[in-house]
Amino acid sequence: MGGYKGVKRSMEIYERAGELIPGNTQLRSRLPAVEGVSPIYAERAKGSRFVDVDGNEYIDWVNAVSAIILGHHDDVVDDAVKEQIDRGSIYTVNSPKEVELAEELIDTIPSAEMVRYTKGGGEACALAARIARGATGKDIILFSGYHGWHDWYQSANYLDFPDLVTGVGPMGVPKALAGTAIPFGEFDLDRLKELLEEHRGEVAAVMLEPVRTYAPPEGYLESVIELAHDNGAVAVFDEVSCGWRIAIGGAQEYLGVTPDMTVVAKCISNGYPMGAVVGKREFMEPATEMFVSSSYWSDNIGLTASITTIRELKRRDSARRFEEIGEGIRAALEGALEDVGVQGEVVGLFNAPTLELDLPDESLRSSVNTLFTQELARRGVHGGVRFMGTLAHTEEDIRETADAAREALEVVRHGLEGGLDEMLMGEASPMAVRRIVR
Ligand SMILES: Cc1ncc(COP(=O)(O)O)c(C=O)c1O
Repeated sequence: MGGYKGVKRSMEIYERAGELIPGNTQLRSRLPAVEGVSPIYAERAKGSRFVDVDGNEYIDWVNAVSAIILGHHDDVVDDAVKEQIDRGSIYTVNSPKEVELAEELIDTIPSAEMVRYTKGGGEACALAARIARGATGKDIILFSGYHGWHDWYQSANYLDFPDLVTGVGPMGVPKALAGTAIPFGEFDLDRLKELLEEHRGEVAAVMLEPVRTYAPPEGYLESVIELAHDNGAVAVFDEVSCGWRIAIGGAQEYLGVTPDMTVVAKCISNGYPMGAVVGKREFMEPATEMFVSSSYWSDNIGLTASITTIRELKRRDSARRFEEIGEGIRAALEGALEDVGVQGEVVGLFNAPTLELDLPDESLRSSVNTLFTQELARRGVHGGVRFMGTLAHTEEDIRETADAAREALEVVRHGLEGGLDEMLMGEASPMAVRRIVR
């Protein structure tokens, strides 16, 4: 993989960005995990790896925050997109591919009977919120998990609940929306019941991520759906992030629980902008009467990428392979923990195994995770404690990652013996998006 050369050029661009782009990056998760160490700008990507502007190559376990599912720059999807570009990237009238993709999604996602498109995931969540409110004639949305940047969701930052996004309040979101979207913690059925009771007759939807890191407890999702229905609310699964690494068709297919409406994006199009809200006819059909309309929702590139990605996931037996990759990285990390003699475990489902170290003091976690991330970066592995693969990841990638993790854990072990903060080579970004999980 070649020696790590530092990130001087990334930092130069980043400083220029700071003068020109408020917040430096367009997505908070693209802020550097450790300034001066983590790659910030990439030059190219292929398969399981990318090369940054300083010429460092990394095994990528973030994969455009899960949007890349087949692997970077996948030849089959990219060829289909190029072929479409040669016939026009967007038409004046509609593309028949809108209907072709709708048929494919309905075939693939258990809750899908009708379909509307967007480009981004947050946008698709906002659309689901609109349709649910329109379909029920009610205003309040109860949710857990992360659902994007739009006003409907960020208005929850007005409530007495820790910030949805660390260090960021509801600035810019109309105060009048306070109380229209209310969070409950992951797996917290009692709180959901309380909220439904408190807002009886006012709840349009209950929206949640069916899986974030952990599989839900037995019967949890079924109970959420039942509670939503008892209260005349639409049950919405946001599968933007957990998406189709768990199963093509989503966590709902894997867990055998079917919601009323589902939000998908990212995983459905291997990195080309595309999102969708799908759902049962009775909840989707009222959208006919609502103003939901946008020029680029019918662009041919996302449609083509999505149709091709779904077919390729099926053709490449992705469900079995993701389980293999996830369990492979879990075993490799567990081996590294054991070799180094650091206490911890690898938690979560196979879609995103997550390293959780046993620490003497919880307040150390952020520094420890940052140090681990820093040391992985210096060894050519991009990611943090959460490992999300693609179909392009190989056994060799897992082996190299395990070697890097072993060395990074050695550094962490020294850090825990003393001088942890001094071992950090740069500032950690206040980037973490808090997702109302645990
Ligand atoms: C569960 C979930 N919903 C919605 C979003 C927002 O998607 P986007 O960043 O495309 O707006 C994300 C993004 O991370 C997500 O993980």
